[in-house]
Amino acid sequence: MRRAIYPGSFDPVTNGHLDIIERGCKLFDEIIIAILLNPEKQPFFTIEERRAMLNEVLKEIDRGSCVLRVDNFKGLLVHYATAQQAHAIVRGIRAISDYEYELQMALMNRRLEPAIETVFMMPAETYSYVSSRLVKEVFQLGGELQGLVPPSVEERMKRKVAG
Ligand code: PNS
Repeated sequence: MRRAIYPGSFDPVTNGHLDIIERGCKLFDEIIIAILLNPEKQPFFTIEERRAMLNEVLKEIDRGSCVLRVDNFKGLLVHYATAQQAHAIVRGIRAISDYEYELQMALMNRRLEPAIETVFMMPAETYSYVSSRLVKEVFQLGGELQGLVPPSVEERMKRKVAG
């Protein structure tokens, strides 16, 4: 039984995240998609909204026999991963620019908890430039999000700003 944690802000979940989860399903029996509770960040969506969106879009994904669970955590990721008896942390790497930061995190996490491996996965090239940050920026400036996030996520973004 191989369990992985896929941590992140998921504010909001993008098609790039879903691509990584689908690929992760080929490697792991269970993936916990873990949303960081970060009091220092001003998120677009609340934790509850992000959880609901993830649960909704995960229904559509090609998971094979992999169990997918959505959770949130605070504090150190390795403490959370150990408490969940996870073997690995999954992170998506889009470009070389991601690598430096991700390498630092992976090595720090390894120092803190050597039993947990970080697995870097590459999304499809189509998503190599997609990030939650850019999705929010494009949305806020009135751009088209089709193909970048699932339609239900775009709907929720529209509803959110409509009040
Ligand atoms: O989607 P993000 O914002 O790039 O995800 C970053 C995340 C949540 C993976 C990272 O900030 C994290 O693990 N935070 C938890 C605190 C922690 O463990 N810090 C030490 C990491 S070396």
